[in-house]
Amino acid sequence: MQSGLRSKLLEAFSKADGEFLSGQKISEVIGCSRTAVWKHIEELRKEGYELEAVRRLGYRITKKPDKISSNEIQLGLKTELMGRNIHFEETVTSTQKIAQSLANEGAPEGTIVVADQQTSGRGRMSRVWYSPSGTGIWMSMIIRPKIPINRTPQLTLLTAVAIVQAIEELTPLKPDIKWPNDILLNGKKIVGILTELQAEADQVHSVIIGTGINVNQTKEDFPEELQNVATSIKVETGSDWERAQFIQTILLKFEGLYSLFLSQGFKPIKLLWESYAISLQKTIIARTLKGTIEGKAIGIDDDGVLIIEKNDQSIERIYSADIEMK
Ligand code: BTN
Repeated sequence: MQSGLRSKLLEAFSKADGEFLSGQKISEVIGCSRTAVWKHIEELRKEGYELEAVRRLGYRITKKPDKISSNEIQLGLKTELMGRNIHFEETVTSTQKIAQSLANEGAPEGTIVVADQQTSGRGRMSRVWYSPSGTGIWMSMIIRPKIPINRTPQLTLLTAVAIVQAIEELTPLKPDIKWPNDILLNGKKIVGILTELQAEADQVHSVIIGTGINVNQTKEDFPEELQNVATSIKVETGSDWERAQFIQTILLKFEGLYSLFLSQGFKPIKLLWESYAISLQKTIIARTLKGTIEGKAIGIDDDGVLIIEKNDQSIERIYSADIEMK
């Protein structure tokens, strides 16, 4: 089916919101004869859509394939800014790399880069981020906030809140956040966030927020060394989830929080973040590039920096580290 026809047909089904669309309506929407309608329905079935057909009522979609593409993300997207410009590719080295080039070329705020698979997914602290095809959300968002550089870590915490809220809205799960940006379920990581920025002097040109979300992997899909530390939404719920719907919900939550952040600052975001945080008021070991610090995590400050009270009661402020809870 031509992609234009396909988009029109899927858009009509999306507007019908689970209700039946008559053959007559479909033929009008995509501009084909009534007899050609079934052919297009069959093509959708071949792509993995499940459709119910009832005489005199027409057709309705009962299940969408877990496929991500610009189309799938766009249809039903309720945001005004985030994801209004979508750059999708099946396979990339890293969505961060592509987002950086697009940002340099002037891509508008809210642009997202999404791939089904990354061959060199990047994690924090120069680690590799395992990003196989058909299972996860590998996405980078470009934003251009007018804030000083030292406030950009707050956006990482904001993103973690947006993702937790999306997971809570779509699934029965209740994830935790481990400072600064790991999202955990039953102590295992389901989401990683990597924030990178392009700036000059103290002016931020763009912030690229990369999110890696394990959605439909089975336990065996993870390499052995990750099986005890990583999990997925499928492993935790026992069912498959539609990645495009997750992306739409994350973008909508992010947009709401980002607008709150721009109008009211970090305070309301900080309160939300704290309500999901598990590392606070616990004894932790923080491994930083400069060494290891042990103490009680007593909170985050208004910049999103972690404050640790050491055993000798002195206070340390941690900007970036790996945290282990004792
Ligand atoms: C972490 O180490 O916890 C952060 C992982 C971030 C992974 C995401 S996947 C999409 C984007 N592209 C990348 O190469 N990395 C980020």
